[in-house]
Amino acid sequence: MNRIFSGIQPTGNLHLGNYLGAIRNWVQLQSSYDCIFCMVDMHAITQWQEPAELRRSTREVASAYIASGIDAKKHIIFNQSRVRAHAQLAWIFNCVARLGWLNRMTQFKEKAGKDRENASVGLYVYPSLMAADILAYKATHVPVGEDQKQHLELARDIAQKFNHDFGVEFFPLIEPIIKGEATRVMSLRDGSKKMSKSDPSDYSRINLTDTADTIALKIRKAKTDPHPLPESVAELEKRPEADNLVGIYAALSDKTRGDVLVHYAGAQFSKFKAELSDLAVSVLGPIGAEMQRLMKDPDHVDAILRDGAERAQAIADPIVAQVEEIVGFLKP
Ligand code: AMP
Ligand code: TRP
Repeated sequence: MNRIFSGIQPTGNLHLGNYLGAIRNWVQLQSSYDCIFCMVDMHAITQWQEPAELRRSTREVASAYIASGIDAKKHIIFNQSRVRAHAQLAWIFNCVARLGWLNRMTQFKEKAGKDRENASVGLYVYPSLMAADILAYKATHVPVGEDQKQHLELARDIAQKFNHDFGVEFFPLIEPIIKGEATRVMSLRDGSKKMSKSDPSDYSRINLTDTADTIALKIRKAKTDPHPLPESVAELEKRPEADNLVGIYAALSDKTRGDVLVHYAGAQFSKFKAELSDLAVSVLGPIGAEMQRLMKDPDHVDAILRDGAERAQAIADPIVAQVEEIVGFLKP
């Protein structure tokens, strides 16, 4: 069976974009792949994280995976830092990846902002650690949101260059899985910006832990335009806020934007938003409640993560040992 690897940074404010762009797809892919789902705490510290908050957030993301329906017995849930193979392989990949490749990464430019000299070196080499996450398990498929496409292309380049340089057919080609109607959920305040954990306005996103009232309020206040909903998907193109809300509705109900418009063409936003809120609360409410329950039992969550890390390590260690052999590290 093909293997899936994916991860989320435990950096707080897990939101609807993470759920629709990533976790919801993972839940569906579980029946066709062996899956490994990670909280990438080593990626998280490429930007400053309060230690206590990092621990809390790691458990919160794990709780979100479990509450959304990831089966931690059949598949693997763990935090990255527990399996040393990630760091070991990342170093080797730092020596395979080229400066020119990393210089093209748009996420680094966005996150480093104007003060580039002051960004951590970790933030710069973030994509080689990401390639290591995937390839330490020889994973073939990686389900993510649209924003990770460039990183996955780089991971493919690293795998290819490694195979080529050492004259081996060792690493598989990685296939991204970027699917559904919500691969890029936008901010509820500004249809040109991605919904993100770090947006200073909490009204820009729906957090997985928001109460029903908060979800309804945020959707009611979401920016829209004054026109009723159009008849066709093509007409959504120049209406980013409308497009975003229709996309969210579609993803939450496993429909297409077209299906949603068949039902709502000509409707006012007041009606559409009220029904979108009911839908969002019906999907996210039970997940948020189960997350809260799991967060009250950290020992239980930690036991799942310990077991996951052991099983992850059992897969990754032999693969990284073979890589070290190929590279020529002496094992006296
Ligand atoms: P991050 O929050 O950057 O750790 O992202 C974790 C996962 O969520 C990745 O697969 C991202 O592509 C996905 N993701 C993050 N933000 C969004 C968004 N606004 N829309 C869709 N997917 C997203
Ligand atoms: N960079 C990803 C993000 O921020 C998280 C991530 C780290 C990841 N390692 C990964 C995703 C490996 C998929 C596979 O969204």
